[in-house]
Amino acid sequence: MTAHEVHFPDGFSWGTSTSAYQIEGGNSNTDWWRFERAEGTAAVEVCGDACDSWHRYEEDLDIIASLGLNSFRLSVEWARIEPAQGNFSSEALDHYRAVLVACRERNIVPVVTLHHFTLPLWVADHGGFEHPDIARWMANYATKVSETLGDLIGVACTINEPNIVAIMGYLLGLFPPQVTSWERFVAVNETMRACHVAMRDVLKEGPGTFPVGLPLSMQEYEALPGFEDRLDSFRVEMEDKYLLSLRGEDYVGVQCYTKIILGPDGIVNLPDGELTDMGYLFWPQSVEYTVRRAATLTKAPIIVTENGIGTQDDAQRIRYLTGALEGVRTLLGDGVDVRGYFQWSLLDNFEWALGYRPKFGIVGVDRSTFARTLKPSAHWFADATRNFFTTA
Ligand code: BGC
Repeated sequence: MTAHEVHFPDGFSWGTSTSAYQIEGGNSNTDWWRFERAEGTAAVEVCGDACDSWHRYEEDLDIIASLGLNSFRLSVEWARIEPAQGNFSSEALDHYRAVLVACRERNIVPVVTLHHFTLPLWVADHGGFEHPDIARWMANYATKVSETLGDLIGVACTINEPNIVAIMGYLLGLFPPQVTSWERFVAVNETMRACHVAMRDVLKEGPGTFPVGLPLSMQEYEALPGFEDRLDSFRVEMEDKYLLSLRGEDYVGVQCYTKIILGPDGIVNLPDGELTDMGYLFWPQSVEYTVRRAATLTKAPIIVTENGIGTQDDAQRIRYLTGALEGVRTLLGDGVDVRGYFQWSLLDNFEWALGYRPKFGIVGVDRSTFARTLKPSAHWFADATRNFFTTA
């Protein structure tokens, strides 16, 4: 069977991904909100109202429905749900229930992430991922989410890219809490795995029978000659320890954007390489590479929970997504158990320390009116998902 003869597997998830902090606006009770305002911050601007999706979620879901996508990945904000330790906000939970109901009314399966980069201030002030009780706190929060929203969740993601929280926050010092220590980076990665297990177990006990998994940041890596060992020790921390711990899980989420080449001074930029607005090498082939690697190491089903490109050039986005989906097609043709593909992102949104400059959306957002405008790539993606497996 050639890859082109593969038929669309029943139940394959096609969606776009978002996160609460990056689109909702007003998430002021978080470590990120404070970090953006701190002296000497690495953040170039504040998040503020983001895309105002806290108020405009129905419009966002209407767009997804109009594109014919069957799934939507969003996150719920811990700082809104548990603004102070042990105090749960029924207003926030009612809001998220309304969002999930609105998904279901449109036949959109909600893929719900419980933690996407931000911490409530009370957690951050107690030491965040370095507090000995963090796994228990996250499990308590997950229990509440499961009890109140579990019947509506389609797929759950525990912690988004724990390895990025660890590297950016504890090794490179570019995200809160701005630590630069290899030992603390390694320790936080270890803690993250414990937090995932604690959350996963309570999610599986509660109402609903949804799959639970962890979305990991992965890249295609290459080492210049002589730097193979350095790459190996880095990748063991960033990927392998996670992947090996995720064997037997319902699914593993793969999130990838580029290829990273390591040399004497860290990341090597190819002189003739096409770059994205993130400064990343344009490398859609990373999807096929990382999914294959994750599937081999975990033996678990894979969902591509994020993949996309930050660019002002929508034609470049279409070229990128074309390459990425060709990779998915090849994987399915090879019998790799891929269950879904989520493009990052629905909207041009708050790209963390880089602010609003990088444009990952298939839908543009006017920064003063919040008006949404579908880009050609939105229509292209909708068509691609419809026709992908049936065209020769
Ligand atoms: C994160 C997103 C981010 C995206 C693009 C992923 O690392 O989960 O929050 O916006 O990559 O950089």
